[in-house]
Amino acid sequence: MAATDLERFSNAEPEPRSLSLGGHVGFDSLPDQLVSKSVTQGFSFNILCVGETGIGKSTLMNTLFNTTFETEEASHHEECVRLRPQTYDLQESNVQLKLTIVDAVGFGDQINKDERPIVDYIDAQFENYLQEELKIRRSLFDYHDTRIHVCLYFITPTGHSLKSLDLVTMKKLDSKVNIIPIIAKADTISKSELHKFKIKIMGELVSNGVQIYQFPTDDEAVAEINAVMNAHLPFAVVGSTEEVKVGNKLVRARQYPWGVVQVENENHCDFVKLREMLIRVNMEDLREQTHSRHYELYRRCKLEEMGFQDSDGDSQPFSLQETYEAKRKEFLSELQRKEEEMRQMFVNKVKETELELKEKERELHEKFEHLKRVHQEEKRKVEEKRRELEEETNAFNRRKAAVEALQTQALHATSQQPLRKDKDKKN
Ligand code: GTP
Ligand code: MG
Repeated sequence: MAATDLERFSNAEPEPRSLSLGGHVGFDSLPDQLVSKSVTQGFSFNILCVGETGIGKSTLMNTLFNTTFETEEASHHEECVRLRPQTYDLQESNVQLKLTIVDAVGFGDQINKDERPIVDYIDAQFENYLQEELKIRRSLFDYHDTRIHVCLYFITPTGHSLKSLDLVTMKKLDSKVNIIPIIAKADTISKSELHKFKIKIMGELVSNGVQIYQFPTDDEAVAEINAVMNAHLPFAVVGSTEEVKVGNKLVRARQYPWGVVQVENENHCDFVKLREMLIRVNMEDLREQTHSRHYELYRRCKLEEMGFQDSDGDSQPFSLQETYEAKRKEFLSELQRKEEEMRQMFVNKVKETELELKEKERELHEKFEHLKRVHQEEKRKVEEKRRELEEETNAFNRRKAAVEALQTQALHATSQQPLRKDKDKKN
């Protein structure tokens, strides 16, 4: 058999044949087994809230999950944007949900409060997951997946247009996370203004190439509702945990002197649409998109950056082992080159230092010789001075002795004179 036939033989996949079963076997319970397993394992869902301080992020989260999460108000004087994740265990029927809400504290407050920390945070969660995946002993089954599944981007209800910070931030985030833009505090904008505002926002997003999350329309069961909801984006929401009596029912609403805005009334705002799309219909798609699109992109870029690739230039598949070996060799030769470079640098440095030291020694020696010469000269001068002084002293002593001798003679002569006078008188 020729080699090419062999290759074809080994790569050929056997055509599956359809057979009919004689009776009930039971593998039709596989979906149920899957559901049961997932329910036992529990789910995790991570929401990132991005929006300026006081825009209503915490209130909306409380309203969405019908609970009160522990939140602290952010100050307007944060030094930089800080990501604050908080994880809660929630249960509905027998389904456990580990919910993480990440607040981008301080975002959009002052200048220099940009999106970088948000991007870094999202990447860090991808990196953690990748590191777990690359471990020899990995435990992805009970790994707490902190990758962000959705970013709720709170747009300020100005009625104008998006701020450039909004556009820049969404552009930076759109390849990393599913973005659902929402107009916050929608009760502060009139109905006609809101309609125009929505159109304007969508126009700006499209013209700036910002990719927001589109509710999937490939699953027949939800295609219709998702398609309708896509047309309603961005959702204009109102949040409130306050209960107000409307008719004979207590509903969550915001009460104003002129009336009541009901959170769950679709004529008042899109809160119900958001809850429906985010939690009840597309939560799993958001989780899936995060894994298969955003994480996959991060993983691919990261591995390519590290030098891994699936095939070489001739489209030959590359095994991980080969890439690893090639990388290892590359790394070792680089290490060797660096070592040699450092050794050469060290030798040069030693030589330089040796030369410097020699020069210093020569300078010192010269200085010493010079000082020695100066010292000898000084010594000679002092010696000369001493000799001169000695001569002067000797001369002085000689003069002194002569003077003393003269004085003694004179004294002697004066003491002899009266005696001679007396003798003369007697004679
Ligand atoms: P920080 O976490 O401090 O950045 O604030 P936040 O974005 O979490 O805002 P929070 O939910 O604390 O709400 C701030 C204020 O806005 C509160 O007084 C809320 O009652 C009010 N608020 C929240 N949602 C809405 C809304 O939909 N409409 C109106 N009019 N006010 C709202
Ligand atoms: Mg808050």
